[in-house]
Amino acid sequence: MSGRIPESLLEDILSRVDIVEIISGYIPLKKAGRNFKANCPFHHEKTPSFTVSPERQIYHCFGCGESGNAFRFLMRHERMEFPEAVEILAKKAGITLPEQDKPEIARAVSLSTQIYRVNELAVNFYENNLAASGATAWRDYLLNRGIKLQTIKEFHLGLATSGWDGLINYLRSKGISISLMEKAGLILPKDSGGYYDRFRNRIIFPIFDVRSRVIGFGARVMDKTLPKYINSPETPVYIKGKNLFGLNLSKDYIRDNDFVVIVEGYLDFMIPYQEGLNNVVASQGTALTLEQIRLLKRYTHNVVMIYDGDTAGEVATLRSLDMLIEEGIQVKIVPLSKGLDPDVLVRREGIDVLKAKIKDAKNLFDYKLEILKSRHNIKEAHGKSKIASEMLSTINKFDNAILRGEYVKRLSEEIKISEHYIIEELNKLKPSSMEPRNETVRPGKISTGINPAEKLLIKFMLEERDLIEKIMQELSPADFSDMRTAKIVSVMHDLFTQGKNIEPSILMNYLSEDDVSQLVCESMFMPELAGQDREKAVNDCIARIKVQRLKSQREHLHIQIKSAQSLGDEQKLNSLIKEFHNLIKKGD
Ligand code: GTP
Ligand code: MN
Repeated sequence: MSGRIPESLLEDILSRVDIVEIISGYIPLKKAGRNFKANCPFHHEKTPSFTVSPERQIYHCFGCGESGNAFRFLMRHERMEFPEAVEILAKKAGITLPEQDKPEIARAVSLSTQIYRVNELAVNFYENNLAASGATAWRDYLLNRGIKLQTIKEFHLGLATSGWDGLINYLRSKGISISLMEKAGLILPKDSGGYYDRFRNRIIFPIFDVRSRVIGFGARVMDKTLPKYINSPETPVYIKGKNLFGLNLSKDYIRDNDFVVIVEGYLDFMIPYQEGLNNVVASQGTALTLEQIRLLKRYTHNVVMIYDGDTAGEVATLRSLDMLIEEGIQVKIVPLSKGLDPDVLVRREGIDVLKAKIKDAKNLFDYKLEILKSRHNIKEAHGKSKIASEMLSTINKFDNAILRGEYVKRLSEEIKISEHYIIEELNKLKPSSMEPRNETVRPGKISTGINPAEKLLIKFMLEERDLIEKIMQELSPADFSDMRTAKIVSVMHDLFTQGKNIEPSILMNYLSEDDVSQLVCESMFMPELAGQDREKAVNDCIARIKVQRLKSQREHLHIQIKSAQSLGDEQKLNSLIKEFHNLIKKGD
């Protein structure tokens, strides 16, 4: 979170401000026991589940899971960048920022903020163009495609006219430098010197981030010119794989419905949204990234994918499926017939037909199997083996053994091969999905469903500094099976050995990923335990994590033994078996 601003400065600031006072400046807080409560400002609710702890100087919403320290609150509530929140709280705390940190803070604040501002200006410019009297043909094009005037306004659609420097001149008149226009991706350098507008002769679709800031643009031709769409390049504020089109408008609907419909295109979002299907996002025609999936997980764990009825759509869907499953998302699919997309379907047959298809969505097993059946001959041995191996790579992604078992059974029925052989094949795949869990902290992969014992231990350690030493003697960070808890414990351990402050609000400054620092708060708000119960709970948690460690060591050894067996490596096999026996004895 902190970039290059020193943690000691952040700690200094946090120790001099009060989170209760800061948050009450924006929303009314009511005292409730040791904490304060309010209706959550980050999602719609009728009974307050947003909680602020004055002791711990953090907040947490039991409804939507949003949590953090005072910096995070300002960033989320006031849509600030981190350095900006630091600047504001430093002022409040009466701390003068050290000279050497100032340029860093100013630079970070200014570039992103300036790009948002230029983008806003560009939106105004394009919107005015579309409203101008000369733009009838463009407005008619949109109206003919079923987009209502109200929708044009709501999405801030605009028009880039055919000139080469309309936007440049407009922005210049507003005092914007050429260099900033270029950093925002709005203009391009000419070979002959000088610059020209990137978007010309196109309808403009502004792209907003989840906080409704304009981060970039999509632009469509009205005729058959290619390319059909051009988009903003990546800029400091527009990172393509991190954003989902429309989420700023649909996020509350997604949370309320507890599922999201994922479509491909801008129009596939706008038309259904306009007609009353509001829990939608658009992937903008590419396979989903891990970051996009994590973004969605803040709102729901259920996804319905509707991709165009063409091969590109099919490929994009299949590529996204495995990743969704690995992230613990429940996925269903609505296949569309060739040439159809959600936009066309809704205009031809109405929103209710689309809604009915969504209700009827296929589970992913049936969807993938159907595609594979159309590609391979299920009656013949080679076909069966191809289908099985593709299906197994998906089945293998499920964390839950019962689900895996159920799908193996169904696959066995479909290809008419005994479950025994299918399991044998599945076991061949196992190492790839199991090995990472045995290793020490590695960045990137975050598994879903954290062992509650791991969260509880973090809470205990944060509440009682002495416990850190005790727990560290028994467990190492690598024994925590979840990436996030492992990371937290490892940072805590470092801070402890350096004799530093480990309050939750301060620990968060050392954790750069949002979901990791949120987990700190979530753990802190787990139910209270006192006295003997507490001591027993600590010991229980340690024991449970040890059992889990033993289990994964055993699984790992098992795999090594199998491989030594198949290689006929007697010597290795003997030593592995000895090791295995020792391990089993330890577990008793
Ligand atoms: P219409 O043809 O107007 O209905 O648009 P669409 O949104 O249905 O487009 P389509 O299904 O062809 O593509 C889905 C999404 O992929 C679009 O919304 C764009 O985000 C993206 N896309 C499509 N064509 C292009 C292209 O030529 N270049 C780029 N960069 N993106 C494209
Ligand atoms: Mn379309």
